[in-house]
Amino acid sequence: MIHYKDLGLVNSREIFKKAMDGRYAIPAFNFNNMEQLQAIISACVEERSPVILQVSSGARKYANETLLRYMAQGAVEYAKELGYNIPIVLHLDHGNSFELCKSCIEFGFSSVMIDGSHLPYNENEALTKKVVEYAHQHDVTVEGELGVLAGVEDDVAAEHHTYTRPEEVEDFLNKTGVDSLAISIGTSHGANKFKPEQCTRNAEGILVPPPLRFDILEEIEKRIPGFPIVLHGSSSVPQDKVAIINKYGGALKDAIGIPEGQLRKAAASSVCKINIDSDGRLAMTAAIREVFALQPAEFDPRKYLGPARDSLKELYRHKVKDVLGSAGKA
Ligand code: G3H
Ligand code: 13P
Ligand code: ZN
Repeated sequence: MIHYKDLGLVNSREIFKKAMDGRYAIPAFNFNNMEQLQAIISACVEERSPVILQVSSGARKYANETLLRYMAQGAVEYAKELGYNIPIVLHLDHGNSFELCKSCIEFGFSSVMIDGSHLPYNENEALTKKVVEYAHQHDVTVEGELGVLAGVEDDVAAEHHTYTRPEEVEDFLNKTGVDSLAISIGTSHGANKFKPEQCTRNAEGILVPPPLRFDILEEIEKRIPGFPIVLHGSSSVPQDKVAIINKYGGALKDAIGIPEGQLRKAAASSVCKINIDSDGRLAMTAAIREVFALQPAEFDPRKYLGPARDSLKELYRHKVKDVLGSAGKA
């Protein structure tokens, strides 16, 4: 057993409390390789933002669990070397079993999500409670989920949103003891969050998706005031990146995300954690495609992964400064 405190990591309890009081949200950026990690840490150190390094079960398999542990420890040391010891959480994204959560905790994760949102309510509750009981013995924080996001989550696909039912949240918190709760209010995973026919066009002809269900969020806040809420599926799908990808041979169609204004509004509420993965994928892919197209003789990976890293860093700085409001809060 490697305890996260020995790696220099923190759990999410304290940073969520501060985010709640300060009306901003902590970024949870997914990573699975060195360039992404470098970009996340250097951006958050320069912007003085706390950060959640988020790893899905697929990413854990891809990167290797032992390497990940040293990467997280390396991230803490890298931040110090860059001159500022920001709070860093290592979090399991969409854990789907007790065994996976336990294994992550044993490998140095400071926070885990147990996602029982696809299960019947009672099974979700029982599974989440079991994970909380184990995690809290090690001072690891736990995120649960109620409601199902439309789209694909790992291998589970849902055609429509099942919005979180506000009348369930209090009971779920009391019975499970979770530290934060992911909810479904209209976000979804991936780069195709809305169909064009669901959107309207603004004066500039840009597609505007339907707003998030802030009425549901407010109802939840009334029932569990001051409790940290998590938003998954919060990429904004920057259209300049989509255009670069498509210009240089990509084939992204109808890629539409959550407008940043909606996320700013959410960050000022009880939403303390905002998950962003797809936007990073788009930024990296756009940069790499551009190098491949414009410098076809290049074959040194540093010559395309380097620009990808720079582009990612710029994206993350923008997110913490202009969208989540976590810059300057570390
Ligand atoms: O919510 C899902 C995250 O974007 C992680 O995706 O399972 O492809 O690593 P992944
Ligand atoms: P996006 O696909 O919108 O980036 O969402 C990521 C996420 O929710 C990870 O859990
Ligand atoms: Zn998610």
